[in-house]
Amino acid sequence: MVPRRSDQELVTMRAAGSIVAQVLREMERLVAPGVTTESLDSVAETMIRDLGAVPSFKGYLGYPATICASINEEIVHGIPGKRHLNEGDIISIDVGAIWQGYHGDAAVTIAVGEIEPELRTLMHATQAALEAGMAAVRAGRRMGDVSHAIEKAARAAGCEVVREYGGHGIGRAMHEPPRISNWGPPNVGLRLREGMTFCLEPMLTLGSYATKVLEDGWTVVTADGSPSAHYEHTLSVTKNGVEVLTRAQGQGAKEEQR
Ligand code: MF3
Ligand code: CO
Repeated sequence: MVPRRSDQELVTMRAAGSIVAQVLREMERLVAPGVTTESLDSVAETMIRDLGAVPSFKGYLGYPATICASINEEIVHGIPGKRHLNEGDIISIDVGAIWQGYHGDAAVTIAVGEIEPELRTLMHATQAALEAGMAAVRAGRRMGDVSHAIEKAARAAGCEVVREYGGHGIGRAMHEPPRISNWGPPNVGLRLREGMTFCLEPMLTLGSYATKVLEDGWTVVTADGSPSAHYEHTLSVTKNGVEVLTRAQGQGAKEEQR
């Protein structure tokens, strides 16, 4: 069963999402050559707690940190640590927070200084894939349409879609049904209804889509070492489309498309 949220629940999820969005904007401001991923993690945790929320990743299945920081060939679930960022890296930062019992979850990929044009292409393609998925969301459509739109956009940009990981329902828990594939055929899967809330999070690579998990038990990397990018939003289905819940308050649609 995939629940539909009441207007009151959506108000709360918007607030949770706004906290996540504010933290991500701060991460974008702070990312620079020389910065360590654990310093970013510490800022994120302080911000979330100061805003009266709780970091949702910390302690989740034993995960040790507030953010996931995944650099270059790392796809998702990179653990923050002493590693410092280098000019030319790309880093996916994933943030989750709980506000009054409801979750927000979002991620962006950030360039560290000047990056190679192909990495810029990868970032744009991943963002475009997320936008394409969002554009396919509408009450009455099916989840397969969303998955298919993401895959199509990725392929049009010449990138591969990671297959073993995907989006998820979200609400009172970070991960609720359904699981959402970033690839596959249209006209299949769950029928979308107004008030459903879920995360779309495409992960694209410049090489093969095969993945492996490092010995830390968390960090997912591309098997061939090719770079990967990752963007995520928490969304709700509306009658005529989609609402992005992980947007900073007052942030316009334009800025989201950067
Ligand atoms: N956005 C990620 C996800 O949906 C965050 C989970 S990281 C974890 O899977 F460490 F908390 F697992
Ligand atoms: Co997620």
